[in-house]
Amino acid sequence: MFSPDPVSRELIETAIRTASTAPSGAHRQPWTFVLVGGHETKRAIRVAAEEEEKQNYEGGRLPPDWREALEPLGTDWEKPYLEVVPWIVVLFEQRYGIGPDGDRLKHWYVKESVGIAAGLFIAALHQMGLATLTHTPSPMAFLSKLLKRPENERPFCLFPIGYPAPDCVVPDLERKPLEQVMVEISD
Ligand SMILES: Cc1cc2nc3c(=O)[nH]c(=O)nc-3n(C[C@H](O)[C@H](O)[C@H](O)COP(=O)(O)O)c2cc1C
Repeated sequence: MFSPDPVSRELIETAIRTASTAPSGAHRQPWTFVLVGGHETKRAIRVAAEEEEKQNYEGGRLPPDWREALEPLGTDWEKPYLEVVPWIVVLFEQRYGIGPDGDRLKHWYVKESVGIAAGLFIAALHQMGLATLTHTPSPMAFLSKLLKRPENERPFCLFPIGYPAPDCVVPDLERKPLEQVMVEISD
């Protein structure tokens, strides 16, 4: 539930710079952040994402245990916020790099590296008072086509970004307490 209020491009660039400080396997920095601010492309993303999500939620593509786990969060196939937000950032993972002569550069620990960059990105946005949703309208291949990404890149995650709507509500979720997430090994 996002507000349509504008967000300065500078803030998004700062969040991407922060994300880009993430460590990466052999320092390959295997990420590309694609910034979308135009209404036409946001609309195209919404239409394509909803096509996939409709099949997930209503076409039986989501297995029953997954549907059950999502139930308390109240998500469904409709994604109107993709047109409301001032910005969408689509994060792509680079499965391999392209060297200066067009040769293939091997990348290591791509998922781990891009996952850390995504975490820093989200934390930076939150510190700026912005809201985002970690969105994976799967399968996400439509994003490569729509955003004309090269063969070595694969969509990792989509982030609609904006200020929260004044009347927004979110699920009332509690984090696991420290005792449940930390294990101490004592000598
Ligand atoms: C890898 C990943 C994929 C996600 N994909 C979706 C998604 O496609 N749609 C959605 O509404 N939320 C998605 N979420 C958001 C989670 O549902 C959300 O983080 C969860 O509700 C927990 O809420 P919290 O972010 O307040 O902890 C995703 C989160 C992660 C980490």
